[in-house]
Amino acid sequence: MKPVFTPLHPLFVAEVSAIDLMQLHDPGTLALLRAGMDQHGVLVFHDQTFTDAGQLAFAQRFDGALHTKTGAAAVRPNRLKYEGLSDISNVDEDGKLLHSEDRRRMYALGNRLWHTDASFQDPAGRYSMLSARVVPPAEADTEFADMRAAYDALDVATQKRIESLHVHHSIAHSRQTLGFEFSNEELDKLRGAVHPLVRTNPRTGRRSLYLAAHATRIMEMPVPEGRLLLRDLMDHATERRFVHAHSWRAGDLVIWDNLATMHRGRPYEDGVHRRELRRVTTLDIEGAPAA
Ligand code: OGA
Ligand code: MN
Repeated sequence: MKPVFTPLHPLFVAEVSAIDLMQLHDPGTLALLRAGMDQHGVLVFHDQTFTDAGQLAFAQRFDGALHTKTGAAAVRPNRLKYEGLSDISNVDEDGKLLHSEDRRRMYALGNRLWHTDASFQDPAGRYSMLSARVVPPAEADTEFADMRAAYDALDVATQKRIESLHVHHSIAHSRQTLGFEFSNEELDKLRGAVHPLVRTNPRTGRRSLYLAAHATRIMEMPVPEGRLLLRDLMDHATERRFVHAHSWRAGDLVIWDNLATMHRGRPYEDGVHRRELRRVTTLDIEGAPAA
């Protein structure tokens, strides 16, 4: 059966009709879902029954090679057995809620800043696939912002001014803006990466702003001037008209295109409620099935 895409926002994000992604191997359907990603930027699937291995296998069928360096590994040994599977949860290895002062919790709080996944790496992350296993009874949303619409809404003079600029991204930077401290040894592992500020989807030709809280500076500008421009662009790109909030149900899988969107987690009572999600991110390289 052909997947049906139902838009959830005027600009982006669609819910996909019932489909069991664990069992999905049909190349035609996978191609239709990739085309759906190019159009909508974020796809929401309900009632998935992923195991960790099943989620990893699906991610590779869908978009090729997996990212294994999306960040937390520098400060937190992965509690999960699989490289490539990121633990987006507020519990420790024994399944207990992390203490409010726990360094792993404070590091993870950085996910509440607007960002794209692994922009501080080269290659960066292309698709992220976040599977909700345990969700709180209270609201604990993830918000998405459409970076294609944000780019389109810039005036032409600004589009021209920023067209050939490059941005340095570092995960240490986004955490440091929250007062999180790193050892020299950690900082050594977190040098960051440089990417264009405006990126073009090779299949659709649509441009988008490639921004994140990880952005430290614009390479072609003095640091303060670049930071001011980055702040202005961030304010613009996260205006409410570009934003959709996803309210999680257990069994949801949400896939987002990190080149077309930014996202952030919203605050919730993480000292009271368990919230366990698992993320797999693919490498933004050519030659993957989506290319
Ligand atoms: C992520 C992320 C936010 C959230 O998984 O990459 O940023 O709401 N998650 O958990
Ligand atoms: Mn993220």
